[in-house]
Amino acid sequence: MTEGNGHRSPATAGPDLSADYLGLRLRSPVVASCSPLTGDLASLRALDLAGVGAVVLPSLFEEQLEHEAEELDRYLGLGSDVNPEATFGYAPVLDDYNQGSVQYLKLIRDAKATLEAPVISSLNGSTRGGWTEYARMLADAGSDAIELNLYQVAADPNRTGRSIEDETLALVASVSGACDVPVAVKLSPYWSGLAHFAGRLVDAGAAGLVLFNRFYQPDIDLETLSVGPRLVLSTSDELRLPLRWMAILHGRVAASLAATSGVHDSADVLKVLLAGANVAMTTSALLRHGPEHVRVLVDGVRDWMVEREYTSVEQLTGSVSQINVGDPAAFERANYIDTLTRYASTFLH
Ligand SMILES: Cc1cc2nc3c(=O)[nH]c(=O)nc-3n(C[C@H](O)[C@H](O)[C@H](O)COP(=O)(O)O)c2cc1C
Repeated sequence: MTEGNGHRSPATAGPDLSADYLGLRLRSPVVASCSPLTGDLASLRALDLAGVGAVVLPSLFEEQLEHEAEELDRYLGLGSDVNPEATFGYAPVLDDYNQGSVQYLKLIRDAKATLEAPVISSLNGSTRGGWTEYARMLADAGSDAIELNLYQVAADPNRTGRSIEDETLALVASVSGACDVPVAVKLSPYWSGLAHFAGRLVDAGAAGLVLFNRFYQPDIDLETLSVGPRLVLSTSDELRLPLRWMAILHGRVAASLAATSGVHDSADVLKVLLAGANVAMTTSALLRHGPEHVRVLVDGVRDWMVEREYTSVEQLTGSVSQINVGDPAAFERANYIDTLTRYASTFLH
């Protein structure tokens, strides 16, 4: 079966692989999450040809947007109270990752004009700032949805968890209220009361939760005694954290769920769908194997479904979630105890 652009559609051969995410109908449940790969039109085309369900463009960063606003003020001669430090810091470095909002809006428009898959744009930051305006611009440029990445480290000893949550909820409410496309929120796992906070995010306007941000922890160089970044791509071992939370939240929050961190092969995709994710997002595997790897994932999901006579992704989604399994405690503390005792028994015998 082919579609309008002549591509073979992975969603229409055999079982129905389409997935519902943020109210969008995706032809497959495999989504390419933010990375330099999704910032390049040729790679985006390759992802589309391989049957990707949707693409998430690399983030526009809060630091970058602040930098641009300051530069504009300066240019217009209004910058008497501009903070000179704002032009340093991360912003110029970020220009190498992503060339600023003008280029970003062009990328959205180009991607929309070229791709069959929906295009999700991404804003990345932690404070309220002037995001609403940018969110509106991303929506107006044609984004099908916006992903809001709330990457922060709660390092201030004077701030309570509650105040961080409240500020985050205000940010989500202002962005989702400002634009007429769905907003998904990408979170780290380091929130207390995560199941409750997830519900509050949905009440604030989040149409989807993307779990989890991978924290790139700093490292120390023993030669120079300096602290620096070290990016290591993920492995499938990291899947089990999002898998657990997909299972816990499925059927309990009125929002789409996307699993990110550790999705590398079709077994990983199937596991998170069975746990309750609407879609599986992947980055490290695509950076390792190239955009064509999407087809390997989609084909693997289809083959497994055919073998077990599943007719649709919808049919399997959440069937092994916490509310649907015989042993719901397996997703909580009981799993911890079980894991330790099983290991101890193999070690001792
Ligand atoms: C090189 C690189 C760049 C990334 N850029 C972004 C980004 O701009 N915004 C974002 O929200 N996540 C970004 N991510 C995180 C990925 O979208 C993804 O959530 C993370 O890598 C975990 O998924 P994985 O295990 O499939 O790699 C980036 C990841 C990598 C490896």
